[in-house]
Amino acid sequence: MKTVTLMISLLCVCASSSAAQLSEQQQFEKEAQVAIKEFASSLKTALLSAMQDGGPIEAVAVCNLIAPTLAAEMSKKHGMEIGRTSLKVRNPSNEADEWETSVMQQFETRLSSGEAIQSLAFSEKVDTDTGQQWRMMKAIPTDKVCLSCHGTKIAPPIQAKLDKYYPDDMATGFKLRDIRGAFTVSKEID
Ligand code: HEC
Repeated sequence: MKTVTLMISLLCVCASSSAAQLSEQQQFEKEAQVAIKEFASSLKTALLSAMQDGGPIEAVAVCNLIAPTLAAEMSKKHGMEIGRTSLKVRNPSNEADEWETSVMQQFETRLSSGEAIQSLAFSEKVDTDTGQQWRMMKAIPTDKVCLSCHGTKIAPPIQAKLDKYYPDDMATGFKLRDIRGAFTVSKEID
């Protein structure tokens, strides 16, 4: 009888702590989604206004300057690291780490097995050298507007600009609705 009671109470403890962890994860996901949404929309606004002002050739220079600045601003504002990465990066400083690479590979598998690109997201608690972090990624689809700089046929003057800023560019050859990359967020757990 005693053992049964002990087992039941142990079960309860386990169940309630996993429920607490779930809500902690949901809380992180909610915060991360807010940060991603704001980062995505400010990037899009900056890109579209640069394209309107000076066309895609000028917009390359704007992306080069603005994308890293916006990422830093958003990270500070939301109290978590936020950025963009890809399996094929343009800027080597956006290169994916091991965890990010494996999450994006899973996104590719999920996409080929029929999942909608908009719903490709993943979060997890991860051990680091110094403690633990919550991490989350969300796939970034390739829209029509992206193709002039990331597509299969890049106009020579744009290509020349890309070569100048990004001699190791891998981020071309994408097609409409391919996964261009992903937003990536991490937050230290105290
Ligand atoms: C005017 C050219 C241009 C257009 C249009 C453009 N990009 Fe980019 N993209 C760039 C440049 C330049 C960078 C490198 C920015 C940097 O230095 O951080 C970049 C970087 C990225 C990155 C970060 C990972 C990496 O490869 O370094 C992602 C993700 C990305 N672009 C997605 C998109 C998506 C999605 C669209 C369409 C909505 C788009 N881009 C449209 C020029 C462009």
